[in-house]
Amino acid sequence: MTTRIYYFTGTGNALYVARTLGEKIGDAEIIPIPGTADQTSIAHTGAVGIVCPIYMFNLPYIVIDFIKKLQQPDYFFIVFAGGGETGNCIKAVKKLADAQQLRLSAVFNLAMPSNYAPFGATPGETQKAYFAAAGKEIPRIAQVVNDRNQYVEKRSTGFFQTWIHPGILYRLGYRYITFMDKGFSADERCDGCGVCEQVCPVDNVTLNDGRPEWHSRCQQCYACLQWCPQEAIQYRDKTEGVPRYHHPNVTLKEIIKASRKEL
Ligand SMILES: Cc1cc2nc3c(=O)[nH]c(=O)nc-3n(C[C@H](O)[C@H](O)[C@H](O)COP(=O)(O)O)c2cc1C
Ligand code: SF4
Ligand code: SF4
Repeated sequence: MTTRIYYFTGTGNALYVARTLGEKIGDAEIIPIPGTADQTSIAHTGAVGIVCPIYMFNLPYIVIDFIKKLQQPDYFFIVFAGGGETGNCIKAVKKLADAQQLRLSAVFNLAMPSNYAPFGATPGETQKAYFAAAGKEIPRIAQVVNDRNQYVEKRSTGFFQTWIHPGILYRLGYRYITFMDKGFSADERCDGCGVCEQVCPVDNVTLNDGRPEWHSRCQQCYACLQWCPQEAIQYRDKTEGVPRYHHPNVTLKEIIKASRKEL
């Protein structure tokens, strides 16, 4: 029975991981989560996996909505392809699965370069180290899935990782994710190409008179900012001059395809 890997991505890390994992698993199809937005129930006999980034030490909202619609598959797993700092993620996904009466068999944490531009860019050499480590880790994940084994990644340990990072500020901030697009603006380099509108996975960007406008249903995936060909989109005063990031083996065309709600 085919394994279905549903993924959510802004800058391609999760797409790359989903695709590579699918190849290693063998009989697998990969499906973008935005394409399921109009479905009221997701059912599949066989294994179902999710590959997604981490936002503010938690799950992307769109992934939470997806899990709420998921019917119990034969085997259910999730791969966090975030920046490695799971914070509250493992606890949160278990709690969510329990609430849906879903058996979650495996949870993996696969560190990838951070796309959170306000904190700067991950240097090229460090990016290469992440990709090399992921290259070794993905076959191991595929083996666990194919063997239908139970596996839950250890939660982060240490004072900063368990208390400071996912602490009160981030918990409060997480609630405002959809409105955080108020910090985005386009500078004078914007030429009205429309890429920001095309890559947004939740139709949160539209062009008005050739200029982007954001509509406060943001996922904070950073696709609009990171894929703008002119590097014209800024987050407040934090991203001017910060090198833009996307996974080197993922193209703009693939991201546009992944962001469409209609499949
Ligand atoms: C708004 C925002 C918040 C983030 N918060 C976290 C976090 O709490 N922990 C973490 O490990 N990575 C965090 N990241 C990094 C992304 O999860 C990571 O770069 C991920 O691989 C991006 O996946 P994508 O390329 O598929 O979009 C954050 C990124 C963004 C844009
Ligand atoms: S992608 Fe950049 S240049 Fe193109 S319309 Fe959006 S902000 Fe302007
Ligand atoms: S507005 Fe930008 S950051 Fe927000 S969901 Fe759309 S593409 Fe992602």
